[in-house]
Amino acid sequence: MAASSPPTPLLLTLLLLPALAAAASLPALPLSTASRWLVGADGRRVKLACANWASHLEPAAAEGLSRRGVEGIAGRVAAMGFNCVRLTWPTYLATNATLASLPFRWSLERLGMRESVAGVRVNNPALLDLPLIDVFREVVSALGSKSIMVILDNQMTTPGWCCSRTDGNGFFGDKYFDPDEWLKGLNAMATIFNDTKNVVGMSLRNELRGPNQNISLWYRYMQLGAEAVHAANPNVLVILSGLDFDNTLSFLHSKKPELRFTGKLVFEQHWYGFSDGGHWEILNQNDACRMVVDSIWAKGLFLLQQGWPLFFSEFGFDMSGTHIGDNRYLTCFLSVAAEMDLDWAIWALQGSYYIREGILAYDESYGLLSWDWCTARNPSFIKRINSLQSPFQGPGLPNSREPYNLIFHPQTGLCVLATSSKSLELGPCDRSNAWNYTSAYELVVKSTGQCLQAKSVGENAKLGTDCSKPSSKWQLISNSRMHVSAELTKNGTRVCLDAGPDGAIITNQCKCLIIDPACNPESQWFKVILSSRDTPGGSSILQLPSVGPWPPTSLSY
Ligand SMILES: *[C@@H]1O[C@H](CO)[C@@H](O)[C@H](O)[C@H]1NC(C)=O
Ligand SMILES: *[C@@H]1O[C@H](CO)[C@@H](O)[C@H](O)[C@H]1NC(C)=O
Ligand SMILES: *[C@@H]1O[C@H](CO)[C@@H](O)[C@H](O)[C@H]1NC(C)=O
Ligand SMILES: *[C@@H]1O[C@H](CO)[C@@H](O)[C@H](O)[C@H]1NC(C)=O
Ligand SMILES: *[C@@H]1O[C@H](CO)[C@@H](O)[C@H](O)[C@H]1NC(C)=O
Repeated sequence: MAASSPPTPLLLTLLLLPALAAAASLPALPLSTASRWLVGADGRRVKLACANWASHLEPAAAEGLSRRGVEGIAGRVAAMGFNCVRLTWPTYLATNATLASLPFRWSLERLGMRESVAGVRVNNPALLDLPLIDVFREVVSALGSKSIMVILDNQMTTPGWCCSRTDGNGFFGDKYFDPDEWLKGLNAMATIFNDTKNVVGMSLRNELRGPNQNISLWYRYMQLGAEAVHAANPNVLVILSGLDFDNTLSFLHSKKPELRFTGKLVFEQHWYGFSDGGHWEILNQNDACRMVVDSIWAKGLFLLQQGWPLFFSEFGFDMSGTHIGDNRYLTCFLSVAAEMDLDWAIWALQGSYYIREGILAYDESYGLLSWDWCTARNPSFIKRINSLQSPFQGPGLPNSREPYNLIFHPQTGLCVLATSSKSLELGPCDRSNAWNYTSAYELVVKSTGQCLQAKSVGENAKLGTDCSKPSSKWQLISNSRMHVSAELTKNGTRVCLDAGPDGAIITNQCKCLIIDPACNPESQWFKVILSSRDTPGGSSILQLPSVGPWPPTSLSY
């Protein structure tokens, strides 16, 4: 699809970046853990930037194979900049030989889905008559051919949509959740892929939940499951879900599982806007973000601080952009994802399902892809997540620098760049200057002596050398601590950094610091984060042409 106006050459170069990522190779495998980081066999950090791809619903096959060729879908995952897929599976696919050997065609036909059969015949003829377990292998293999890592996620026992408290799949001992069957399934799946390089991890069970949840049983069975997986496949990371739909791991504060192996244990946490108690719609956005992030810390983020890897294996939002609560949640989530440099997996890749909850061709409003799997549902989101797809920190980053600060703008996914001493603008974080947010509250471009200064209300922020004036002292204010604020030297008026519609960095009256729940402060939200990522703008003022309005209006992926 063509852009509505011809892009500048620089913009064109930037647009090609995801395509370059597609040509990337797998990291040095297998993965293991080094304190809170995941690292490759060479000790370098590997950041998981994954999409969830469902393969656990009634047909027990990866969604979308009736709409696109499997290689094309895998290529699309890579082209969007993801390096990994969390591929879901139901236990019975590994333990019920009748299901595992059922030809894909029959699995669809028994559910009355003749149109899907026709679609698979057109788009994936080689898969149509394969047994379901081989279809699963082919999906893993297609992802491998595009250098996409795979995490196998045991989502349910019985094939079907997940998750409810009462679906009999919620906790060990529930109607369909026999611990022995589960261990058998984990062992079988780990064994099938014990020789498959791009399978880098297994998440043992998705979203434990329901009335029978029990912490002591959690330790008992998770330890057994982890040992079973490790014995069959010592290469994979072993990923453990918390309780209450994987919303809480707080019980791990004082006691970690006891395992006979080390260097492979990862925890996973889920964070959706709809789990946040309705705060997003009714509170001031600064207050909501603060309150929810405090709660997410207590429920799981503390693990990173304790030196354990924590994978945000599900987050997601309504990609139509019309859900106010989701939009607010997402910006807050992205600020945390940048600050903590999280490993994550978005829900979801699929734009639609063969069948979900009884509805044929169900539209996934959280899907990266459109209903027909042909285009990105929300192309500007893919630009927005791009800077979070590679690591800011961690061991062994290529050409890493001394840690410096980035001024990240979660509304756009861009960073504040000093392109000349008179102009600052949003641009790709990869091109940022190395900033230092000092203990004297100055925002200095490292080794230039130049610092950020507020000039006036509604005017561009500038760089200058006299950094001791009030207009160069930037405090992080409001409950979100994302308003970056200084006082005008001439008359003491308090202003906040703001991003203009053209991406210019200006200072304005601070917006919606307190109380007002209707006001949207996001253009004024900036997160000062730590990075040691290589950047060409390291210690100089950049001399770059302007990148124009962001995001570009009609991108296609
Ligand atoms: C195994 O799978 C087949 C095909 O889906 C199903 O008919 C059968 O009931 C399953 N067996 C068990 C024990 O669940
Ligand atoms: C994988 O598992 C099979 C079956 O248990 C075993 O024969 C094989 O040696 C294993 N391969 C590796 C690389 O561990
Ligand atoms: C959890 O399970 C253990 C072992 O079966 C049992 O003794 C304990 O009472 C259970 N706790 C709760 C709160 O149900
Ligand atoms: C900022 O500068 C101070 C003083 O020179 C230094 O101690 C600190 O490490 C720097 N921090 C960053 C993130 O660059
Ligand atoms: C201070 O100066 C700014 C910019 O010139 C102006 O908009 C604002 O009204 C002034 N505030 C006061 C209190 O005079």
